[in-house]
Amino acid sequence: MRTAIQESRELLQKLPRTRLGFFPTPLQRLDRLSEQLGVNLYIKRDDFTGISLFGGNKVRKLEYLLGQAVADGATHAITYGATQSNHAMETAAACRRLGIQPILYLTAVVPPKPEELRSNLLLDHILGAEIHIVPIEPGETEADAEARSFAMGTARAAELNANDQVCVDIPMGGANALGSVGFAAAMVELQEQCETMGGLRFSRIYHSTGTGGTMAGLHAGRAMLGLETQIVSVSASRKDESSYLDKVHRLCRDALALIGSDAMPDRGAMHLNLTQWQPGYEQPSEASTEAIRLLARTEGLFVDPVYTGKALAGLLADVDSGEIRKGENVLFWHTGGATALFAEPEITGSMF
Ligand SMILES: Cc1ncc(COP(=O)(O)O)c(C=O)c1O
Repeated sequence: MRTAIQESRELLQKLPRTRLGFFPTPLQRLDRLSEQLGVNLYIKRDDFTGISLFGGNKVRKLEYLLGQAVADGATHAITYGATQSNHAMETAAACRRLGIQPILYLTAVVPPKPEELRSNLLLDHILGAEIHIVPIEPGETEADAEARSFAMGTARAAELNANDQVCVDIPMGGANALGSVGFAAAMVELQEQCETMGGLRFSRIYHSTGTGGTMAGLHAGRAMLGLETQIVSVSASRKDESSYLDKVHRLCRDALALIGSDAMPDRGAMHLNLTQWQPGYEQPSEASTEAIRLLARTEGLFVDPVYTGKALAGLLADVDSGEIRKGENVLFWHTGGATALFAEPEITGSMF
């Protein structure tokens, strides 16, 4: 009889995919931190996805999104994010690998200093991406500026397409159904690793959530594999829980439909943790700074102040409160983003 893992693999193989990263990423036990916390803590090293030294969760999504772009004959790809967006940088790098011209519309959540470019924005320049900085104008919200960036990107794509180019749109965070397929595949990859590690089972998986594509994909994989694991999605920004879960549930359903799976995602099993996003997106918190220091000083590993530090802080808070019981098998899914350790001081805070 075929297992759920085999069936899922076969379905996933039918979608166009371009190989960009290094998979499977390592699954490791954090021995020293486990001992300190009294839980059996593992880490999934998606900071190691590639394609360069600066990996992260977006590479999994881009294998499918750019796989489709290549199949469509793309010459250019446009995407969006904040000026220090990991997604934008990883998209630009992946486009270069595939000979596609990257175009970025970047909202200046933290206004960059042109004479002192840092972190992902510096890498975007080294990659030679076509970069459009979209400031947040007085009286505008971040969402207003983002909406303007989408309109500018749509106009640029129309211009290129009218000139015999093929310009594809990669959504912010790679968060559409096709991008989410990358994380359904990641869940299958994890399950295969667990099987080779003596049938290891996690009661909970903690990860950082932003645009929701990673969360949708993880839940799609969970549904396909029939797992009971609780997925705790720790938000990096303020969100309205109900509309966010509706969006993620829809994405998850659409990803499963693309895969051709008849598994049904369970909206009731979707857990959005809103305890860590404050004081705001790209703003450090005491708890995330503490989490960054703790992982570095026990394990020699790095999480970042914007996403993974806050997700790890969420996990640590649940250990402290007793929500995670002693001896539980818990996975921290490291989604990358370490370049933020070298971003503007408004983003990093004081980390030591
Ligand atoms: C390092 C890192 N972790 C987590 C996330 C959240 O992923 P998603 O946008 O798929 O929710 C992002 C992207 O926004 C990220 O860059």
